[in-house]
Amino acid sequence: MKNIYRPIESVIEDIKQESPNITTYRFRPKEPLTFGAGQFVELTVPGIGEAPFTPSSNPNVTETMEITIMDVGTVTHALTKMKVGDTVGIRGPYGNGYNMADFDGKEILIMGGGVGLAPLRSLILALFDDIDRYKKVSIRYGARTPEDIVFKDLLPEWEKMKNTEVLLTIDEPAENWTGKVGVVTVLLDDLPLLTTVGVEGLPFSAETAVACVCGPPIMLKFVNIALLEKGFKPENIYHSMERNMSCGLGKCGHCMMGELYICKDGPVMTAAQIAAFEDPF
Ligand SMILES: Cc1cc2nc3c(=O)[nH]c(=O)nc-3n(C[C@H](O)[C@H](O)[C@H](O)COP(=O)(O)OP(=O)(O)OC[C@H]3O[C@@H](n4cnc5c(N)ncnc54)[C@H](O)[C@@H]3O)c2cc1C
Ligand code: FES
Repeated sequence: MKNIYRPIESVIEDIKQESPNITTYRFRPKEPLTFGAGQFVELTVPGIGEAPFTPSSNPNVTETMEITIMDVGTVTHALTKMKVGDTVGIRGPYGNGYNMADFDGKEILIMGGGVGLAPLRSLILALFDDIDRYKKVSIRYGARTPEDIVFKDLLPEWEKMKNTEVLLTIDEPAENWTGKVGVVTVLLDDLPLLTTVGVEGLPFSAETAVACVCGPPIMLKFVNIALLEKGFKPENIYHSMERNMSCGLGKCGHCMMGELYICKDGPVMTAAQIAAFEDPF
């Protein structure tokens, strides 16, 4: 019988420092390991433990998988001590990612905060592979300081993509920073109240626009409020939910929110799915 918990041996092929505490690792699994944008995997550092992460690489690239990881504790810190050629275990993918078929012909707003842009990168790269299918892709990203911005080398490339814009903000003013300052919701200031459909000049149509949001819980909370105020429909706001997880596949109950299992019903959930909870984030 197949052991659903068995990790696939995966060799570290590349390590790239994105910011003082965030690193992107490229793994080469010894067996095929495919995933959809927004799904997550469980990564084991041998002898240390296991933790859930959403890949940051293009889901259409199947021989390797990249994961962008912030050093916060036992597993993530042990990873920072590993070298190219070392082996980890990866099992999955698990959960529900983005239903990209629903995005066809729409304006897509991507809202990331901190390391939250990492899971969104796999979605962005999948959107870029088929950019003509979408009306517009607007990437809006906030980091604490300029140093903390991830994918610094990729953001200018993304900006050059057809139908795509990239807007950045940092929390506090910093030397040599001429861009926006303020928490990530300041990047929504330019969006007018979207109460009318198809009015010329509006960057998004409330009727159709989709928002995909990933970041710390406090950011999800305030971006959710702002997007609803702007007229986005709850069923068109997708949040990447994070919870303490163990099994990753709906068996242990660690990740439960009411009757929902974040690992199985999420981690990507719409504002409509979580609307009944007082504090879902
Ligand atoms: C579905 C899902 C996808 C995720 N994707 C990513 C990803 O792409 N990249 C990524 O870096 N992380 C991601 N995370 C978070 C990641 O799982 C945790 O950071 C990781 O489990 C921490 O493990 P650890 O053993 O290093 O820390 P632990 O030793 O378990 O924790 C140490 C300390 O860090 C705190 N801590 C735990 N998680 C975080 C956090 N996220 N931020 C700040 N403090 C924290 C804990 O409260 C504790 O005090 C994801 C989580 C989920 C559920
Ligand atoms: S992590 Fe075990 S049920 Fe979700």
